[in-house]
Amino acid sequence: MKDSSGASAPAKAILFGEHFVVYDKLAIAIALDIRARVAVKPRPDKKIVVRSSALGSSEFTLDGHGGNERLKPVYAAAKGVLSMAGERMGLDLTVDSQIPISSGLGSSAAVLVATTAAVGDLLEMRLTSDDIFRLALDAERLVHENPSGVDPAIATYGGVLAYRRSEGAKRLKVDLNLPLVLGDTRIKRDTREMVMRVSEIRRLYPGVFEEIIDAGDKIARLALGALGSGDLVALGRLMDMNHALLCALGVSNKALEDLVWAARRAGAFGAKITGAGGGGCIIALAPPWDIGRVAEAIRSAGGEPMIAGIAQEGVRIEG
Ligand code: PMV
Repeated sequence: MKDSSGASAPAKAILFGEHFVVYDKLAIAIALDIRARVAVKPRPDKKIVVRSSALGSSEFTLDGHGGNERLKPVYAAAKGVLSMAGERMGLDLTVDSQIPISSGLGSSAAVLVATTAAVGDLLEMRLTSDDIFRLALDAERLVHENPSGVDPAIATYGGVLAYRRSEGAKRLKVDLNLPLVLGDTRIKRDTREMVMRVSEIRRLYPGVFEEIIDAGDKIARLALGALGSGDLVALGRLMDMNHALLCALGVSNKALEDLVWAARRAGAFGAKITGAGGGGCIIALAPPWDIGRVAEAIRSAGGEPMIAGIAQEGVRIEG
């Protein structure tokens, strides 16, 4: 065993297919070059202690007693790796993340993926990316019951992914420069609650719901073609259509619409919610020459703009 280890994993943005992906429709996601880092050291006692710059610190017994609910998935990720190794030991975990929390940028998945990789490296387990993805997804089930897996997939593999629940992740080769601007409403929301809100629409209107998510799948498949041919105008149009479907499912609100429309009025090719909606972020595809203008428009409409590049690298050991 090593004396200490660490790992980092990137944030994500969903370009197409959030919510529909829970029902096995196609999603396209990108890794963003903002990262969450987790450092790990063994402890002499049998406690798992998690310290987070954003969420404070918390102490768990090896059986998961005590501790703060919000940090429990980090405990679960570490415990999953310990169990796989057949180890019963204490750990000190320090989480340091640049990714805004509860904003649709996959901060919890990035932390869980980095935790899994760091603990695996500490124990010299040689986990594969697929192992890390599966272990992190198990821990994510504590955050919300029915995760599609797209968040831990992109945090693990990086780059641009096509993801379908029943088929897993497929890395896409995208040479295109995608001038993307995120806009954070700064409204925190709970993914689990938004996924439940969508399932309620499904319960009330199953026929309409199926049509909506089928349309979402077709849009994502057309987007694969537009990404391949580098057609930014078509991609933007498809993002607008995807956004309209998310509105139909009831996950937009005035704050999100203000940012979407500010970006479109400033010349974006398209703009949509990214992630679960109800708050969190929008994502806009700007013309390369107008990216600053789109960011400024988002700021003037009350949002926090972020110009983020694509992270080609997913999880990384930083031992
Ligand atoms: O937690 P968020 O905002 O990154 O959203 C996750 C994406 C959903 O499709 C809404 C849920 C899922 O598990 O795929």
